[in-house]
Amino acid sequence: MTLIDVDGIDVAYGDLQVLWDVSMTVDESDSVVTLVGPNGAGKTTLLRTLSGLLEPSAGSIEILGEDISRHPAEEIIDLGFVHVPEERNLFDEMTVYENLRMGSFTHRDQFDETREEIFEMFPVLEERREQKAGTLSGGEQQMLAIGRGLMAQPDVLALDEPSGALAPQLAERVFQKIEEISTDITVLLVEQHVDRALELADRAYLLENGRIATEGTGDELLESDHVVDAYLRG
Ligand SMILES: Nc1ncnc2c1ncn2[C@@H]1O[C@H](COP(=O)(O)OP(=O)(O)O)[C@@H](O)[C@H]1O
Ligand SMILES: [Mg+2]
Repeated sequence: MTLIDVDGIDVAYGDLQVLWDVSMTVDESDSVVTLVGPNGAGKTTLLRTLSGLLEPSAGSIEILGEDISRHPAEEIIDLGFVHVPEERNLFDEMTVYENLRMGSFTHRDQFDETREEIFEMFPVLEERREQKAGTLSGGEQQMLAIGRGLMAQPDVLALDEPSGALAPQLAERVFQKIEEISTDITVLLVEQHVDRALELADRAYLLENGRIATEGTGDELLESDHVVDAYLRG
C-alpha cells in the first residue's frame, strides 16, 4: 500500500519558487525513506507541504489515498502523517508527561497504553516525566519530540534532521531509536548525516536546488558517484 504519493509538485513562498516538479513515494513496506540534500535544497519545505502548512501550486499529494488538498492542516495527522519539525516545538514550560499528552489528542482513550510503550522505548523520558521540557538536554528533547510524535500513532513519522546539533554519540543513539521505531512504522527521515541516513534507507531521494536529483535504494545512493563526490568524500 502507498502511504505517501507526491506527484510533480511545485511549491513557492510568495514569488520565490523552492520546489520544482518533485515526486516521491513512501510505501507501507518501506521501513525508512530518506531525503538528503544540502542546506536550502527544500527538504523542510517538502515536509511542511506534506503537513498541509504550504500548498503546492502544481501537482498533487495523497496520504493513504486521500488528496490532502481537501483537508485542512489539522486533519493531516488524522490521515496518519506526523511531522516532527527540526525546531521540535516542545512546550518548554510543560513537563515531559504533559508534552506527551499533547501529542495524543487524536487518541485520548489510548493515552496510557501508548505512553507506556514510549516510556519503554525511551526510559529517560519516564525518569524525567515531571521535569519541564525546556530543562532537558538537547538529546532528551529530541527523544521527547519523537515520543510526542509517536503518541499520535502515525503510519508515517517524518523527522526533520533529528540528529541536528547533537554530539556524535547522541546522534548515533537517535539513529538507533529510529531503526527501532522503523520496525513498526515507516519513518521519513530528512538528514544531513548522509551516510548514516542512507544506510538505514530502503528508498532514498537526493534533493538539490528544489529538484529530485537522484533516487533509488539507500545502497544505490551510497554508491552513486554523484552522492559520493558531493556528500561523502572527505
Ligand atoms: N518561510 C520562508 N519564506 C521564504 N523563503 C523560505 C522560507 N523558508 C524557507 N525558505 C527558502 O526556501 C529554500 C528551501 O529552504 P528549506 O526547505 O528550509 O531547505 P532545507 O530544509 O533543505 O535546508 C531556501 O532558499 C530558503 O531560504
Ligand atoms: Mg531544513
